[in-house]
Amino acid sequence: MATKILDHGRIERNVTLLMVLSLITVAIGGIVEIAPLFWIDSTIEKVDGVRPYTPLEQAGRDIYVREGCFNCHSQMIRPFRDEVERYGHYSLAAESMYDHPFQWGSKRTGPDLARVGGRYSDEWHVQHLKNPQAVVPESIMPGYAFLATRELKVPDMTASLTALRRVGVPYRDDQVANARADLFAQADPAADSADFLKRYPTAQVRDYDGDPARVTEMDALVAYLQMLGTLVDTRKAAAMEQAR
Ligand code: HEC
Repeated sequence: MATKILDHGRIERNVTLLMVLSLITVAIGGIVEIAPLFWIDSTIEKVDGVRPYTPLEQAGRDIYVREGCFNCHSQMIRPFRDEVERYGHYSLAAESMYDHPFQWGSKRTGPDLARVGGRYSDEWHVQHLKNPQAVVPESIMPGYAFLATRELKVPDMTASLTALRRVGVPYRDDQVANARADLFAQADPAADSADFLKRYPTAQVRDYDGDPARVTEMDALVAYLQMLGTLVDTRKAAAMEQAR
């Protein structure tokens, strides 16, 4: 009888049987958890407003990574009251879905930057990056004044977007083809930005570094910082959550 074979006493005394049955049990649990991942496209909920970064923001992001800002700054607000009160709505998974590599981090020598966009003026950021102690006297952040004098040079923005597209960022063909023009159009108020805004309707076009004559690494980094955390309307996201 089946009940006799699987009698608990028997299973506990027979190591081989115990192992085989444990393996089967764990395998069922594993399949139930893992198998659906092969059939669903994404485990991340779609959230309105999230879009791939513009070439200028992406170039700024690359500078952020190059300079190691992540060594002192995280980009993930955890859903705890102290964090939400200090930094704003906690980070949503969708907000970092186009990040390669992600910048969540856990080291907070400085504050979290996930929602720093729009919190300060461009001038503040430029002053702060040039010489942090000029605006926050007790700051221990190092200065990055050279960013303001270095012209923004990206060897091949098209290749950059193509690489990101290969790992799943949905850049369209027209965005990839115009990557280089878009890179400069966003930081140059004199340029015709109509085409750029058609491709990235929610992007902000302006001179970020206070030097309209040229596009510097400072332009790119400040454009990136000013975008952080601003793509999603968190009041709407919070309302959706309440309704659920
Ligand atoms: C050695 C650690 C360190 C590094 C590296 C560092 N920072 Fe900071 N950062 C700080 C500290 C500490 C503060 C808080 C004091 C201040 O505002 O200067 C800060 C503040 C900031 C703020 C203001 C945040 C707020 O909400 O007030 C921004 C923006 C910022 N850093 C950007 C950057 C960027 C961009 C880089 C890389 C180019 C960078 N930081 C590198 C330590 C660091």
